[in-house]
Amino acid sequence: MKLLLIGILLIGIFSSAADGRCSRGCDLALASYYVWQGSNLTFISTVTQIPIPTILSYNPQIPNQDSVQAGGRVNVPFACDCLEGGEFLGHVFSYTTSPGNTYDTIAATYYSNLTTVDWLQKFNTYPAWNIPDTGVVLNVTVNCSCGDKDISMDYGLFVTYPFRAGESFDTVAAASNLSADLLRMYNPTANFSSGSGLLYIPGKGTSVKAADSTSTRDGASTGFTGITVDKSVEFSYEELATATDDFSIANKIGQGGFGAVYYAELRGEKAAIKKMDMQASKEFLAELKVLTHVHHLNLVRLIGYCVEGSLFLVYEYIENGNLSQHLRGTSREPLQWATRVQIALDSARGLEYIHEHTVPVYIHRDIKPANILIDKNFHAKVADFGLTKLTEVGSSSLPTGKLVGTFGYMPPEYAQYGDVSPKIDVYAFGVVLYELISAKEAIVKTNGSSADSKGLVSLFEEVLSKPGQTEDLTSLIDSRLGDDYPLDSVQKLAQLARACTHENPQLRPSMRSIVVALMTLSSTTEDWDVGSFYANHPGLLNLMSGR
Ligand SMILES: Nc1ncnc2c1ncn2[C@@H]1O[C@H](COP(=O)(O)OP(=O)(O)O)[C@@H](O)[C@H]1O
Ligand SMILES: *[C@@H]1O[C@H](CO)[C@@H](O)[C@H](O)[C@H]1NC(C)=O
Ligand SMILES: *[C@@H]1O[C@H](CO)[C@@H](O)[C@H](O)[C@H]1NC(C)=O
Ligand SMILES: *[C@@H]1O[C@H](CO)[C@@H](O)[C@H](O)[C@H]1NC(C)=O
Ligand SMILES: *[C@@H]1O[C@H](CO)[C@@H](O)[C@H](O)[C@H]1NC(C)=O
Ligand SMILES: *[C@@H]1O[C@H](CO)[C@@H](O)[C@H](O)[C@H]1NC(C)=O
Ligand SMILES: *[C@@H]1O[C@H](CO)[C@@H](O)[C@H](O)[C@H]1NC(C)=O
Ligand SMILES: *[C@@H]1O[C@H](CO)[C@@H](O)[C@H](O)[C@H]1NC(C)=O
Ligand SMILES: *[C@@H]1O[C@H](CO)[C@@H](O)[C@H](O)[C@H]1NC(C)=O
Ligand SMILES: [Mg+2]
Repeated sequence: MKLLLIGILLIGIFSSAADGRCSRGCDLALASYYVWQGSNLTFISTVTQIPIPTILSYNPQIPNQDSVQAGGRVNVPFACDCLEGGEFLGHVFSYTTSPGNTYDTIAATYYSNLTTVDWLQKFNTYPAWNIPDTGVVLNVTVNCSCGDKDISMDYGLFVTYPFRAGESFDTVAAASNLSADLLRMYNPTANFSSGSGLLYIPGKGTSVKAADSTSTRDGASTGFTGITVDKSVEFSYEELATATDDFSIANKIGQGGFGAVYYAELRGEKAAIKKMDMQASKEFLAELKVLTHVHHLNLVRLIGYCVEGSLFLVYEYIENGNLSQHLRGTSREPLQWATRVQIALDSARGLEYIHEHTVPVYIHRDIKPANILIDKNFHAKVADFGLTKLTEVGSSSLPTGKLVGTFGYMPPEYAQYGDVSPKIDVYAFGVVLYELISAKEAIVKTNGSSADSKGLVSLFEEVLSKPGQTEDLTSLIDSRLGDDYPLDSVQKLAQLARACTHENPQLRPSMRSIVVALMTLSSTTEDWDVGSFYANHPGLLNLMSGR
């Protein structure tokens, strides 16, 4: 958490590197981790103990953790400390040994040459030939830089960059859009011909002392692979009012349980601003800062917020509205079957990410088509995750024990006992699958009056629990699809929905296995023959589902 927040407030402290000694460190440096074949973000996060979402927030070129490729580099943020009583600047990472480890593999592979065997030997009591096999914590010291006021005050954020064979000042300078001379000045002792050693690549920005704290884009930037470090994501009320034409009714694009949503043009970019009918507690503000660092292709990104007057949340704008209007609105073309399966897969990926890969993990608690937004390419993104804390801590006006969520989407264990687990999202997701098939609402009015209403889950359950149910199932399929659907695929999706809405939460699948099931389904649903492609490359499916 500490490391996660340091990016928000950067204070550059420039020391003179003339004698290599230091008097103080700085809050932030980046380690350039060369991704070797077989490594991945999970591994990098384990050895550096920096959470994956935090790492991703410093790597805007990487859309999600599964797209990290061997042969590329990942920037890992860390605090740059003044060590050994002022001897040098560095950070001590902790590595827990496993059988067969040597200083050489730890330095050259696990830490991707960010440290050396010599350096490991210096800070650990164990001799190289006698490292205990398992469970011993080693000090892994990685050098860093906070800049040098004698060279320039413009650069305050430095990337610790291990050379690789074949690189030179010129190639690195070109890649980082800096002059080779500037690089040389900051690295007077570097020697490329050795094919090893560290280079410090300067980036701009840390000298700005957070005076103008409303910026999301002009934060610190190293010029290298487009790194931009958010200084802050707090907006002023004035800026939001201007961007929404004073929250005019013409700009209103939606209304939810907790407030209205407005379209905005903010600093040249489209945004959706949610004006909440409540204020944020201190705890929730800390939570919001964490949420702004959660990035995934299938999650609607929280850009920032404002707390003047009431609470405003600023989100990326998603062009094509919510899933509810696509399924039931009259102004939209009906969604093709393959698109529905794709939307299911996208949403499942977004949910799997918050269930399993963020720190902390989240349970959404309000999955429904109004919270699934459709982008311009008809891919889906899950909205509003992480907001349940707001209603927990920020709503003393609500009776205690009030359930967060929407009727028709709540599983029995939650509605009856308030039991919360990721399986409540799985249940709600199952209801959404039934809606994708039928375009019916979660609660169906069977006889024109709400007194005669029935849950969509029990409607499907009646049909699916009967053997030879094909005809009855057909009667539930969205009539706007016409005959334009593969029945086999509809049946499979219905069976998946049935598993998701199982009465016993333990028997519902995890989002991870749902993603795998939907990948298989979507590969057999798409027009091109991706199905046989995966049949010939079974390993790929595992790879893509993160196994
Ligand atoms: N980021 C966004 N981009 C575009 N439209 C949005 C965005 N966020 C919300 N909306 C629209 O506003 C509606 C209401 O959103 P919200 O306040 O989250 O209400 P709900 O309680 O229904 O989830 C959504 O269904 C959607 O149509
Ligand atoms: C990530 O890399 C580690 C180390 O190579 C490996 O053990 C692990 O299986 C990998 N995990 C995934 C999901 O590929
Ligand atoms: C580390 O350096 C050694 C020696 O130059 C090299 O063989 C190895 O591939 C490097 N490791 C990484 C991950 O780049
Ligand atoms: C780190 O810096 C110290 C002091 O400048 C230097 O002696 C040492 O060799 C460096 N270590 C690495 C791994 O580059
Ligand atoms: C790591 O460094 C600390 C502090 O200098 C020291 O007390 C500890 O013994 C070191 N660990 C090992 C394994 O040498
Ligand atoms: C590289 O730097 C030049 C001048 O400093 C600037 O005009 C250009 O936009 C930069 N290019 C990139 C890709 O950042
Ligand atoms: C640079 O490294 C090469 C190869 O290790 C070595 O021969 C050379 O002397 C070094 N140059 C300097 C200036 O240290
Ligand atoms: C879905 O979007 C439509 C059109 O933008 C909007 O009118 C409606 O209120 C939204 N649905 C919900 C449930 O918010
Ligand atoms: C609808 O309600 C009417 C009057 O209450 C009743 O006679 C009829 O049987 C109901 N139909 C269904 C399908 O439940
Ligand atoms: Mg919503």
